[in-house]
Parts: sequence; structure tokens; C-alpha cells
Amino acid sequence: MVLLKRPGCFSTFLAIYASSTWAITVPSSPPSTASSVDPALLSISLEFFAFPGYMQLPSTTTCLANLAGLRGTAPAVRIGGTTQDRATYNAQLSTPVNYTVASSGDAPTSLTYGPQFFTLASQLQGDVTVGLNRQLNNQVNTLQAAQQAKSTVHNLLALELGNEPDLYGSGSPIIGSSGWSPSVDGASQKAWETALALSVGDIFQAAVYLSFPSWSTANLVPLLGSAISYVKTFSGHSYPQSACGGASTNLQTLMSHSGIVSYTRQYKSEAAAAHAQGKQYFLGETNSATCGGGDISPTFGAALWIVDYVLQGAVNGIDRLYFHQGTIGNCVSLRPLPLSSHLCPQCHRNTASGATTRPARPSTAPPSSRNSSAPSAARASQCSTTAPGAVATYALYSSANQPLRVLIYNSAYYSGSGTRSAASVPLSGLSATGSVRALRLTAPSAPARVDQGAAVTIGGGQTFAGDCSKAGAQTMETVAVSGGTATISVKASEALIVFL
Ligand SMILES: *[C@@H]1O[C@H](CO)[C@@H](O)[C@H](O)[C@H]1NC(C)=O
Ligand SMILES: *[C@@H]1O[C@H](CO)[C@@H](O)[C@H](O)[C@H]1NC(C)=O
Repeated sequence: MVLLKRPGCFSTFLAIYASSTWAITVPSSPPSTASSVDPALLSISLEFFAFPGYMQLPSTTTCLANLAGLRGTAPAVRIGGTTQDRATYNAQLSTPVNYTVASSGDAPTSLTYGPQFFTLASQLQGDVTVGLNRQLNNQVNTLQAAQQAKSTVHNLLALELGNEPDLYGSGSPIIGSSGWSPSVDGASQKAWETALALSVGDIFQAAVYLSFPSWSTANLVPLLGSAISYVKTFSGHSYPQSACGGASTNLQTLMSHSGIVSYTRQYKSEAAAAHAQGKQYFLGETNSATCGGGDISPTFGAALWIVDYVLQGAVNGIDRLYFHQGTIGNCVSLRPLPLSSHLCPQCHRNTASGATTRPARPSTAPPSSRNSSAPSAARASQCSTTAPGAVATYALYSSANQPLRVLIYNSAYYSGSGTRSAASVPLSGLSATGSVRALRLTAPSAPARVDQGAAVTIGGGQTFAGDCSKAGAQTMETVAVSGGTATISVKASEALIVFL
């Protein structure tokens, strides 16, 4: 277990149990295998050129505030992506960004940005990471941008030097006569960090690779050598599926708990490599599918995927997962970019996951009662050592080691037709007498989409409007407890949070 406690923040621990059996004992204190949870475990990535546009959307502020309200800590935001490596800083530019595109769904092939870009970034509430350009091999320009970021963005956590350099094309100016490989890139990252640290300090987010495992943090660490001291954090990018080039996506596969377990486990060694250097490891850009998310990203099933994926990330030592939002309004289009380009109605997903990782107070409490000095969830565990099946069960504990919540996710796929199965999960070892309360995350089916009018709800009638504001009334269910056991029914493609 790696504990990463940030000064000034209450610590959060997560211990996780997954189970395919229906007899689950909730341990009265977190087991030794429990993982700690960063308060910003679920965070956001915004495509570089689109960032100023996102800041003009009221839904961006509202979505981020919803997450902050649930967890008591603002989500971190990373600004970056493919277009960070097409951007040139212009200290004289009077707008945040300047570019032209043939149609509104396109990403620019080249752009400039100015000081106001960083002024906007400084208005974010949480940690900010900004992705700068290395691909164009203009170190003087990137240094100028780094200095402006450092002086403007008071909440600056880290700076990236290049995005997914593993995908740099052979015509990239950074690629010299010796060609490009993990070792050449490692030497380049080292040289750039060493040069820029003189002016802006030890502030770099290193690696930023997509092509795991051939390009990895574990391989980069020895290549950096003494430059490791200039590195603040390590990042890898991760998409379980691809919609690039017309590739088809599969929601049932995405949502599968056993699939989520095996996929996420791959990054355990990456997190361990970063932790061995005393650095945090992030999936600094992630989402369901590259190239716009196919048609799965806006579905309720993808919301359930996020809940399980984020918790499995914590189990494997990943400190934060930054869910990427690409070109605004470009949710389901297929694009030539190697990265995801989608803005989807993800509020409900993020909020659901926030509710499980910050479960200290009833989420029916008014927003005014939520503040960062309130007690926090701290640890979660999988409630069984049996092989994971369709049902995952997670227990969460406070920093005082008290059980606070159980999350049950039934990943069995419900398409919307035929009989919807249900798992009946007896939770034993509960100290509550009489009853416990629960919030159900549900929808008519896994492929249901809130943007197509489907009733995607958390807690009775609560849902989220298009602007991310809460709509409808949230109600808790009551489940009887008898002899320390409560038996909970969770339908296929549903999740439930039990308040202990
Ligand atoms: C903005 O970019 C366009 C090209 O896309 C260029 O013609 C124009 O001069 C730029 N404006 C400024 C203020 O730099
Ligand atoms: C914040 O939460 C703590 C703990 O629940 C409470 O004691 C305090 O009064 C709250 N502060 C505000 C300003 O609401």
C-alpha cells in the first residue's frame, strides 16, 4: 500500500473488494491491503485548443462544482492533448487562443495562444496541469510559456513537455537524424526538463505516453537519471477501446467488471515505478474510446464503467484518473486525431463516482453543508477474495478507519429488452440496527442516454440537466438490517451506494 498524503488535505484511503459470491462480510476496519485515495482521484482533462471554449460553458463550471461539492476537493484539471503539440505561445496575443478551422467540429492543425490562456487556467479551483509543446522543437517558445504559466497559475501542479511523444510522426521537428525511440525520447525529456527547470523549477509531468507497454514510465525512469529530481508527477494515457478509423466499440465489453479488473491491473507496475521515485502516477488522459468515444461514451453503461474503473485504478495505485473531453460538441464523430475528441453528458457519471469516493455525509445534505473540513471517506476494499464476476462490491472507510459506504456494481449487461436479471447481495457484519439507507444509480438500460431523454437517475428522481445542474428530487431507499445483515437487490447494469 502506498499512502500519499498531501499536506493540508485530509487523507483518503480506499480498500476494495470484488466478489462473485453473494455472501459478503463488510470488515469493521480496512484490511492491510487497502489503498489510499487522492481527494482528486476522479479528475478532468480538457483538450488544449478547446480549453478557453470549455471555460465559456456554464456546464463546465457546474460539473466541476458538482464534483467538488461531493468530495470536498475540487477535481484537478489537465489542459492538453494532441493540440498542445501544435500550439505556439504569443505573449502579444490579446485573446486566449487563435486558430481557424474549416468546420466547427475540427481541431486546428496549428494555433497560437497568449497570456489570457493562463489567466483562464488560474480561475480553476483545483490543481492545474498544463501541457506544453515539445514536438515543434521550439524550446525558447515553450520556456516563455512555462514562465508565464508559473507566474500566472497560482494552482499550477505540473507542466507537460509534449503529448504522447510515442506517436510523433517522422516529420516532427523534434525528431533528428537519429530517429525516434523510447530511449531517444527519454534523452529528449531529460534535456528539456534539465534546461527548463533552471527557470521554472521541478515541475514536470513526465512520460505522457499512450503506447503502453512498449513506451512506459518504468522504462523512462532510468533514462531520466538525475533529471528525475525535476519531475513532479508521471502520466500515462489510457483508453480501453478505440473508435479510430471506423473501429467498432462494444459497451458490454467496456462495462464488464472482470474486463475492468484485468485492464486496469496493467498499470499497477507503472504506478509502482513512479512511487518508487516518490512521485505520483496518473492516468493523465483517459476515457472509454479514442477518436470520439464511438457511440458508447455518452451511454449510462459508460457511466457505470467510470465508477468501477476509477475504483480499480485506486486499487492498483493510480493516484488520479483524468477523464478527457475533446472537441466541444463532437461526441460521437470519428476523427483522424489519435486522441479522443468528445464532449458528452458525463455529469451523471462523474457525480456518481464522486459520491462513492466521498461518502462521509448523506448526499442529500444541502450544498452549503459541504466543505473540505468535513469528515472524508478514506479507504475501500473488495469484499471477497474470490475471482471477480459480474458483481463488484467495494467498502469505503473514513480516515478514522470506520466503515462508511459500500458500493455494489452489477456489471451484467442489460440491453433494454428481455428480462432484467438482478443480483441479491447479502451484506453482513454491519453495525447498524434496524435499517441502512441506499442511493441507486439506474437507467432503463445500459445503452440509455440522458441526452436522448432517458431517465438516468441517482437516488429516486435526481438527474442532471443539460447544463449539469441537478434536477429532480433525490430520495434514499431503506433496506432492513437483521442480525447485522442487509440483503440488497441490484439489477443488471445498475449500481448502489449503501450508507453504513
Ligand atoms: C489569428 O490567426 C489567423 C490565422 O488562423 C491569422 O490570420 C491572424 O492574423 C491571427 N490573429 C492574431 C491576432 O494573431
Ligand atoms: C464544515 O464541516 C465541518 C465538519 O462537518 C463543520 O464542523 C463546519 O461547521 C463546516 N463549516 C462550514 C463553513 O460549513
